[in-house]
Amino acid sequence: MPRTALIAGNWKMNGLAADLDFFDAIAGPAASSPADVLICPPATLLAAAAARCADTGISVGGQDCHAHEAGAHTGDISAAMLKDAGARYVILGHSERRADHGESDAMIRAKADAVLAAGLIPIICVGETKAEREAGKAQAVVTAQLAGSLPDNPQNMELVIAYEPVWAIGTGLTASVSDVEEMHAAIRAALPEPLTTRILYGGSVKPANAESLLALPDVDGALVGGASLKASDFTSIINAAGR
Ligand code: 13P
Repeated sequence: MPRTALIAGNWKMNGLAADLDFFDAIAGPAASSPADVLICPPATLLAAAAARCADTGISVGGQDCHAHEAGAHTGDISAAMLKDAGARYVILGHSERRADHGESDAMIRAKADAVLAAGLIPIICVGETKAEREAGKAQAVVTAQLAGSLPDNPQNMELVIAYEPVWAIGTGLTASVSDVEEMHAAIRAALPEPLTTRILYGGSVKPANAESLLALPDVDGALVGGASLKASDFTSIINAAGR
């Protein structure tokens, strides 16, 4: 069974209400693409983005959530709240959250359980630092992150993995095609549902490199940061998935 490509944009801490016209600009290309298209805006825009995407086939998602469904956690957002606002997916364990908020694999696993319990699809991010790659430890680090972050009982549950080498995020550097191929094959071999689980590549995906990355057999889509903020760039990446 072929896996449908997923082209996902992570807006990170960017976007105001005035930026929602973005969705009108990508609606046509998204509708004619064989790929699934997802945008994860900041939580403040989620409900408005979901309303703009109604009838377009574009999904929206959260960038993080709390592991609990509700309670005394000031400033946090639960998976149920994201779902209520229109989310279908939730990014978890992004390296910026692992670094800025000290998120551990165990925390990400608990969040993944919460996302699945809410009926949403987790996108679990893994990736090595530059020092870890230079020390020849990239594969060991990523497979350990994966083992620690996967939900307790992922069988028959849809989840997505994003391989995002930390040194490639926002730097303009991308992993070589052969490094991506090798890492995605290693990730697939470590998954409980290897045939159906989509594995995205993230890290300076741009119109210029999207086609060669998306052509790799174990790359099932992209998680795009900077280039997802500009409709023309993101459209080129959506179109690259259809070739
Ligand atoms: P850039 O595409 O800006 O490198 O960001 C990648 C990323 O972190 C997506 O989650």
